[in-house]
Amino acid sequence: MEAICMTKKHACPTYPHFLHGADYNPEQWIDTKEIWDVDMDLMHKANCNEMTVGIFSWAKLEPKEDQYDFSFLDEIIEKVAANGGKVILATPSGARPHWMADKYPEVLRVGPDGVKEHFRARHNHCFTSPIYREKVQKINRLLAQRYGNHPAVVAWHISNEFGGECYCEKCQNAFRDYLRKKFHNDIGALNRAYWTTFWSHTYDSFDQIEAPSPITETGIHGLNLDWRRFVSQQTTDFIRCEIAPIREFSPHLPITTNMMFEHYGADYHQMAEVLDIASWDSYPEWHNGDDADIAQKTAFWHDLYRSLKQRPFLLMESTPSLVNWKPYNKPKRPGLDVLSSIQAVAHGSDSVQYFQWRKGRGSSEKFHGAVVGHDGTENTRVFQSVKTTGAVLQKIDEIAGTVTNARVAVIFSWENMWALDDCQGYANAGKKYWENVYAYHRVFWENGIDCDVVSPHADLSKYNLVVAPMLYLTDAETVANLKGYVFQGGCLYGTYMLGTVDGNDLCYLGGIPAGELKEVFGIVAEEIDTLYPTERQHAEVKGQCHELVDYCEVIHLNGANALATYLDGYYKGMCAVSEHHYGKGRAIYQACRDSGSLKDTVLRQLLQELDIQGNLAGETLPHGVTAHSRTDGEHTYLFLENYSATEPAELVLPGQMDNLLTGETTDLCHLAPYSFAIYRSK
Ligand code: GLA
Ligand code: GLA
Repeated sequence: MEAICMTKKHACPTYPHFLHGADYNPEQWIDTKEIWDVDMDLMHKANCNEMTVGIFSWAKLEPKEDQYDFSFLDEIIEKVAANGGKVILATPSGARPHWMADKYPEVLRVGPDGVKEHFRARHNHCFTSPIYREKVQKINRLLAQRYGNHPAVVAWHISNEFGGECYCEKCQNAFRDYLRKKFHNDIGALNRAYWTTFWSHTYDSFDQIEAPSPITETGIHGLNLDWRRFVSQQTTDFIRCEIAPIREFSPHLPITTNMMFEHYGADYHQMAEVLDIASWDSYPEWHNGDDADIAQKTAFWHDLYRSLKQRPFLLMESTPSLVNWKPYNKPKRPGLDVLSSIQAVAHGSDSVQYFQWRKGRGSSEKFHGAVVGHDGTENTRVFQSVKTTGAVLQKIDEIAGTVTNARVAVIFSWENMWALDDCQGYANAGKKYWENVYAYHRVFWENGIDCDVVSPHADLSKYNLVVAPMLYLTDAETVANLKGYVFQGGCLYGTYMLGTVDGNDLCYLGGIPAGELKEVFGIVAEEIDTLYPTERQHAEVKGQCHELVDYCEVIHLNGANALATYLDGYYKGMCAVSEHHYGKGRAIYQACRDSGSLKDTVLRQLLQELDIQGNLAGETLPHGVTAHSRTDGEHTYLFLENYSATEPAELVLPGQMDNLLTGETTDLCHLAPYSFAIYRSK
């Protein structure tokens, strides 16, 4: 089952080292160009080797329609190159020049209320507009022709943080066409799939369909789900359109776009298919509560981005200190600043990159953290911590491109999230999907076990254990995938709500979990008791009592045996967690939501039985301490991280290892608060 990778897979094969850099907007300083030279000097001093340029530069690059001026970009790319640096070059579509919005209002978005936006903000263009697509392709082509073979340019950054949707007539028509294609032009098929007999909402033709919005139909779950899918697909199609001219003139450079935390609007599993590199922007709210919690949630997303392409990813943006857009904007404390950067590397990033290189003087991000502040010097704590991170990356350069061989995975699905969110039932106050996926991932994080985060359609065969929390929407492909995984010998851990609705958001008939999953799990679920927020129930595992919250599902055993039993409620004495052997594998079903200890107990037992050990086998990690690994197939690189602000940790390594930062060989690790260590196996 274990796939051992013998070669490196650099996120950015054009630069097989760690990238350490930032979003850079030299165009904001075009009237004081001497600052560009200061920047080059500071870049060197900060141990940075990369600048991401061009993200919001369209108005400078095409100040009037079809009149281009690439001079600032020419100059800055040469300067970065002369400084020994690399460039990730962005396409400028994240924001557009005023003239374009004035002359071609169709590029602007229409909101769900039908109101067209005025020229404003960013990340707000219509994804369908043929004119916007044409304008974007034209400038992308020119950029690719001009810089696509420049030795300093190592990758393309498409636009910026794609998100949102447009409700203009062009998008509505594109949505109708999407549905015509999906339902083979058969409105009857759509009506059946959407269950529109309900409330007499039957459609007579595709022309009647409108995107769900506060002034249109929102009660048809299949329609809502298809709208989300359409938006996701249209966004991906827009990216494809951006990419086409770049591939033509710059075929050797890898392409990425920066993704986000808890992003709702697009299915990144789908979007990643058109990209070469997964990259993302990470802005955790450090110090707002337990940093161990925050680190673990952040780890989940690092793991997801690594798993997207099953290779190292790029941390495209992070703040070197604070942001400016949270309710309270707090700088990262000393130690945590470097630790949070190295965390990404521990999870498979081949870069640490920041937003932003230099703080602008005006507009909305003037107080956002930057490597270089308004003082313009290297004399700040923030600058020095960036410099330290850069020095660490230089010391561990051999780790760039190494991979993570996770034996466990957690399933996360955008479609499932949308369907759960739309579902009127259970607790309407919130289904807490993300929290619950995090809760399972947390067990692995706390045990120092590398974990992938994958789509329900992913190839699961390399994992010894797969957890599928709250997989309410389980389409036919997923049913087959999960069944096949267990049949072939995998261990699948499902929970309440698994296999409730199909890909059209229609309830499965004949009992849940869906179809053959009943045989796989050896159970059938009857109903769910939704608990009030303050209500608690309990379940027992081998004489130990565990607290339950939110949901207790009533299940009947049909071949499975009980690992846990309800201690109260009208289902007292019934099974709360079941286990069933199926094919060469087994399937565990947790029918209830617990507040921590139940899943911990059951999963720890399973890990033991499956012989899945943490990166510090045999060690119980103190709270806030975790361990992750990367490998080139020959060496294991071990990252130990301590997110406690106050408690040091003493850890025993799995044998003698080389400390890559100090050069010593040791089998003991002392981790100060907010610190990390990196080792190489002998
Ligand atoms: C009302 C309506 C019904 C149904 C129920 C649901 O009573 O008349 O059509 O929606 O609420 O509780
Ligand atoms: C996002 C954007 C950046 C910047 C940062 C601020 O990541 O991509 O342009 O606005 O947020 O945190």
